Amino acid sequence: MNKKRVLSGIRANGRLHLGNYLGAVKGMLELQNNLEYETFSIPRGNDLLRQLKTNQYDLFYMVADLHSINVPYNPKGFQQAVREVVLDYLAAGLDPQKCTLFIQSHVPEHVELSYLFSTTVTVARMLHLPTYKEKVKQHPENVNMALLYYPVLMAADILAYKSNLVPVGDDQLPHLEVAREIARKMNDTYGLDFPEPEQFKTKGSRVPSLTGEGKMSKSVEGSYINLTDDIKTIKKKLAAVPTDSGQGEKVPETGGVAALLQLVELFQGFAKKEEYERQYVASGVQYRVLKEELTEAIYKELEPIQERRSELEKDKGKVDRIIEEGAKKAREVASQTLQEVKLAMGLIMIH
Ligand code: TYM
Repeated sequence: MNKKRVLSGIRANGRLHLGNYLGAVKGMLELQNNLEYETFSIPRGNDLLRQLKTNQYDLFYMVADLHSINVPYNPKGFQQAVREVVLDYLAAGLDPQKCTLFIQSHVPEHVELSYLFSTTVTVARMLHLPTYKEKVKQHPENVNMALLYYPVLMAADILAYKSNLVPVGDDQLPHLEVAREIARKMNDTYGLDFPEPEQFKTKGSRVPSLTGEGKMSKSVEGSYINLTDDIKTIKKKLAAVPTDSGQGEKVPETGGVAALLQLVELFQGFAKKEEYERQYVASGVQYRVLKEELTEAIYKELEPIQERRSELEKDKGKVDRIIEEGAKKAREVASQTLQEVKLAMGLIMIH
């Protein structure tokens, strides 16, 4: 069976929050745990067929450390920040037996490949990307080249593994489009065979901000709940979500109330959300009750992750081994792709 390749990554600019978890990690887990029956024939003249449960995906999940240093950051604490993401991955259920877990900069082929790709991309195209514009607004004093180059490196991350699927949230769609354009351009110009990668979309591909405006984001204070938050913190954060009188002709589609209802749907199901919507246009919603039940539902999902995390924190050697092994496996694939590209671009001799 020809396995489909999958790659995804998360930056190390802060603790993982519910947006990262629902939009990306849940998708990574779903693909990891997607087992199907596959038929093998047993060799040496024996025509017996054997059925095994295997995964139809070849999975590469990384910490995007190089994508984290294009904004002001603390080099001293950075190794720890990278490690925290690995711990979050493992605690959330990623299993190094089933996927390759690695750190982006441990596979230097990504950077080399990204330079080769950059020859096919115009500066104008990069200047118009929404994340670039956003970062320019956030850090006007630090508009560096790496920021502009960001989507090209991301395309290299994805295409180094000839990935078909990318579990990411909707905010990454413009970057995915760049990766698709680069794949097409490289194929057309140099006769390569890159697939055009697609988003693997989860139910929570756009988790709203707790402020009621925009999406949950590491860089917006008061917008997020972290995977490591305890029940008290979650309660406090939900208490701060702006609401209204709880009753009206039409259920709000934006703002704090809409954000709460979306979180209810994600953690308590569609039926529960509908129940609140019915209450809103009839007797009214009691936000105190809604927030209490939602706090519990969120914590119920996070508690086992937090328990696994504190176990993993004790075993430093284990995490080191996983990362080292991951880099080795990732490099095998990425170096092969890089060789193909260099050959096609006339950078190495054909024997
Ligand atoms: P980053 O670190 O900003 O976010 C990591 C993942 O979390 C998703 N996400 C969300 N999903 C739903 N709702 C939200 N509110 C929300 N906030 C964040 C993001 O969509 C992302 O999937 N450029 C990437 C990292 C990266 C990468 C890659 C991803 C580098 N190379 C290659 C995939 C493939 C980023 O900055 O993600």
